[in-house]
Amino acid sequence: MIRLVFLLFITTVLSSSIYRPVVLMHGIVSSADDMNELASWIRTSFPGIYVVSIEIGNGKDDSFLWSIEKQVEHFCKTVLDDKNLRQGFNMLGYSQGSIIVRGALEKCSLPVYNLITLSGVHQGVFGLPYLLKLPIQFRDLITKYAYEDAIQNVISVANYWRDPDQLNKYTTDCHFLPDINNERKIQNETYRTNMLKLNAFVMTYSDIDEIVTPRHSGWFMGYAPNSLHVETWNNSRQFKEDLIGLRTLWEQGKLYTFTSHVRHQDVPHAPNQDFIIQNIFPFFNNTLS
Ligand SMILES: *[C@@H]1O[C@H](CO)[C@@H](O)[C@H](O)[C@H]1NC(C)=O
Ligand SMILES: *[C@@H]1O[C@H](CO)[C@@H](O)[C@H](O)[C@H]1NC(C)=O
Ligand SMILES: *[C@@H]1O[C@H](CO)[C@@H](O)[C@H](O)[C@H]1NC(C)=O
Repeated sequence: MIRLVFLLFITTVLSSSIYRPVVLMHGIVSSADDMNELASWIRTSFPGIYVVSIEIGNGKDDSFLWSIEKQVEHFCKTVLDDKNLRQGFNMLGYSQGSIIVRGALEKCSLPVYNLITLSGVHQGVFGLPYLLKLPIQFRDLITKYAYEDAIQNVISVANYWRDPDQLNKYTTDCHFLPDINNERKIQNETYRTNMLKLNAFVMTYSDIDEIVTPRHSGWFMGYAPNSLHVETWNNSRQFKEDLIGLRTLWEQGKLYTFTSHVRHQDVPHAPNQDFIIQNIFPFFNNTLS
């Protein structure tokens, strides 16, 4: 009996220690513990797995008071300092966290195997619903002065505010999103190279998301120029010019898209558990060796 228990113990320890670690990044106006529920499902399904939910600054306030550039720098430092992550990992970002994790992959060349984004903001946000998450004094500043440096430097949302009536200004003056999307005149080939190293890039949006506008931003689709109609994927410049390699990933069968059906705040929580276990967990089911 004791031998059997010992054998079971050894088998569990050996077989469980090799799942690829998982790095989680929360959304705006929340903190690392918002990802605890999701982390606990992952630990239950993949015994022994190392899961870490990254905090940036003080969490809640700094998630919207720090520029995304600064948040990405902090994120990269924390991840690169963690010796449990040296051999590579899978990475998941939720909402604003989607562009933090993608920015970190592109800029810091992190050793990521599968990149997963839940209800992301890859093609920006535009419109009041998302701003309702912010304290009222910030909303006007963004709608009126989004692309002024003074605002870009102090409100994270401004760094992915994509106004379809000011796309030229967005492209040149918005500090973060047009950069990591390679939408500027001078592109950075490293971003594309790093995206193309992925084994899989997974994107979701919720068809009843009431916060991210347009909700298809989670699939890298934004408003067409001077319009509030969402551009189709294969008509977008991102796809046609393969700016960061998405078309190539798609042609290689490495781009996966899913649609969930929950309110924005519920994305990493119980109402979305079945969706996540069914569609996302297969991308965690891989080992280091
Ligand atoms: C992981 O994959 C293995 C082998 O295909 C399968 O038996 C197992 O159920 C999967 N685990 C999870 C949690 O999906
Ligand atoms: C491209 O991005 C990398 C990583 O952030 C950076 O080191 C490099 O200087 C950038 N290259 C150009 C031409 O901006
Ligand atoms: C563009 O996308 C639509 C909708 O996903 C699809 O039906 C169509 O075949 C695509 N066109 C091309 C040229 O790939």
